[in-house]
Amino acid sequence: MAGKEKDPGFGKVFTPHMLVQHYRNGAWQRSRIVRFGPFTLSPATVVFHYAQEIFEGFKAYRQPDGCVCMFRPDRNLARLNASATRLCMPPVDTKAVRADICRLIKRDRNHIPAPPQTLYVRPCMIATDTVIKVHPSPTYTFFVILSVVGDYFGGEDPRGVRLCTETEYVRAAPGGTGAAKCGGNYAASLAAQHHASRGGFDQVVWLDARERKYVEEMGGMNIMFVLDDTVVTPPLEGGSILPGVTRDSLLQLLRAGRRKVEERCIPVAELVAANKAGRLKEVFACGTAAVVTPIREIMHGKQVLYRNRRDKPGELTMRLRQQLVDIQFGRAPDPFGWRYPVPL
Ligand SMILES: Cc1ncc(COP(=O)(O)O)c(C=O)c1O
Repeated sequence: MAGKEKDPGFGKVFTPHMLVQHYRNGAWQRSRIVRFGPFTLSPATVVFHYAQEIFEGFKAYRQPDGCVCMFRPDRNLARLNASATRLCMPPVDTKAVRADICRLIKRDRNHIPAPPQTLYVRPCMIATDTVIKVHPSPTYTFFVILSVVGDYFGGEDPRGVRLCTETEYVRAAPGGTGAAKCGGNYAASLAAQHHASRGGFDQVVWLDARERKYVEEMGGMNIMFVLDDTVVTPPLEGGSILPGVTRDSLLQLLRAGRRKVEERCIPVAELVAANKAGRLKEVFACGTAAVVTPIREIMHGKQVLYRNRRDKPGELTMRLRQQLVDIQFGRAPDPFGWRYPVPL
């Protein structure tokens, strides 16, 4: 599929090959690139029953000179291993996997789209033992698939997405798996998401599990608030938020630009009051899929937590997005060494 053809959407169009590697007898076996296609698995396979599964997601970007760079793959592979540790799964050799992913991209190089489309890299590890018993599986399959994805920005409204806080369900509790990228977290989020969309919202904002008092993150993105002249975002220390690579990149860009940044617990009540006082200037979400997503409204029950009264996204939201996307697509220098060239 050539890049300029019609919008592929997200996660629907796959390239012809995938990487597969099995783990048995305490070691990863040789990785193989094979045709993209189904696995045959016993109905008793552990992953079907006990959700011992983790995954990752990052992108490769076509550069102006025609070469291709992945964006911070090492961060994602380190996070994959952190998730593996949390779910009692074997870590991968990150350097070897990075090289394997390069080989896979090279193999499917005719499917790397032109900007603004990108190639989404989806590594995934599943438990493959076939015993119906809660236990860490002695065998695993690691695989990587590639998807041609479109450019996402702001949803249907240019001002961004509408959100509501979730005051009943929680995404992750202290000591839980919130900081790991495991499928179970996403399965547990579906009921809240379903309710929110029935109420006309695009997504929910998760609150802390103990008190439902502090903002945590969104279903697939971290969240940032521009409070007066400071960008504020929830901290990672509690272990219930996914440490987003986009979040980290934006914080680095903001700090390099001498913008005031705070990573701290943010009470919903503080935001409601700041919004009333006109101090909450912008709110945006960040994650690999959409990079930066403007937020136009957040409701907390019947209270307005934030509303964008302009007819366009905030200035800082737009500027940050442009800055990061320009680095990713190789249109701007890469002072932090985030681009990783894929030998084609
Ligand atoms: C729950 C959750 N939070 C945050 C993020 C953003 O992380 P990243 O910027 O690494 O894509 C994601 C996406 O991976 C996510 O699924």
